[in-house]
Amino acid sequence: MTNSIRPNIRAMAGYVPGEQLNDPEIIKLNTNENPYPPSPRVFDAIRAALTSNSLRKYPQPLGDTFRKAAGRVLNVDPDAILIGNGSDDILTILTRAFVPEGGLIASPTPSYILYKSLAEIQGARFEAVRFGSTWAAPTGWPPRADLVFLPNPNSPSGTSLPSFAVHMLANALEPRPLVLDEAYSDFAEWNGRALLSDAPNLIITRTLSKSYALAGIRFGFAIARPEIVRELVKVKDSYNCDVLSLAAATAAIEDQEYFREVRAKIIVTRERMTTELSALGFDVTPSHANFLWCRRTDRPVKPVYEALKQRKILVRYMSYPAGPVGALEGPYDGLRISVGTDAEIDQLLASLRDIL
Ligand SMILES: Cc1ncc(COP(=O)(O)O)c(C=O)c1O
Repeated sequence: MTNSIRPNIRAMAGYVPGEQLNDPEIIKLNTNENPYPPSPRVFDAIRAALTSNSLRKYPQPLGDTFRKAAGRVLNVDPDAILIGNGSDDILTILTRAFVPEGGLIASPTPSYILYKSLAEIQGARFEAVRFGSTWAAPTGWPPRADLVFLPNPNSPSGTSLPSFAVHMLANALEPRPLVLDEAYSDFAEWNGRALLSDAPNLIITRTLSKSYALAGIRFGFAIARPEIVRELVKVKDSYNCDVLSLAAATAAIEDQEYFREVRAKIIVTRERMTTELSALGFDVTPSHANFLWCRRTDRPVKPVYEALKQRKILVRYMSYPAGPVGALEGPYDGLRISVGTDAEIDQLLASLRDIL
């Protein structure tokens, strides 16, 4: 029976998400969730949506109430917004819409590993383009890529390319699409929204999983020219976001005061972590996201990850192979540590002092 599965699916390893352990005692710093609760308005909105009438009926297919709210907050045309069941759903829709079987997807490396899995599912080729040194903009993009994914800020580095580099890349790829994956842009100094008017081929993806503390709700969206959104709507599931997630996402994006408060706390903790982890001997890359990329030259970091896990502190150990689809130089590894609450980070630092 499995022989009937398409060969490209059988050949692929499949994307492995970060560990999601249920133990409530675990300090979870491995998948860049927000350590603070969502806006109180989210709870009210979900409660209000829990009526038999709203559960009984299909949700808004295009999420018009969310699109109007997000359009107002972000100052974009609501018709320029496409809703998704997490931004991963948006990345899947984009792949299905733009990439033919045998086509080509490109993305920088090291970066979000899902892009390669999306190419494999689609039966497309994948080309990883190396970042320059100190995570500078990659050069040598394949001229004929059907789709380029550029995460900015990047994961695992947390680095952000300057606006002119993104603008130049978008213009160089035109008319082919550049997907600017802005899962972490709320923690950075700039985002690509202002580039949309000058780069018709730019598609921005956002998520409410990180800065809005709604990873469990699964909600993301894309911002692109309305004529592109109209085509993408044909590809998505008709009802890809449910009534509860739509209600939660709308309430979250409308509460900008709470959003700014949480973001500011996370950035302050991030800067403290940078100083203190550096003092512990880590080579910490300055971050524009809600996590830090920490390496060491004096000792392997995998045992540090394991020792932290034994102490119920979960961080993400990431390693990238050498070679053309691999890391900057040689096999490359490090710890990606999400920003937690100050109390969680105090415990992390105390454990690291013990372990090191
Ligand atoms: C770069 C990047 N893009 C997209 C996502 C997906 O986010 P979600 O599907 O939760 O919206 C993640 C999640 O970790 C990410 O790191």
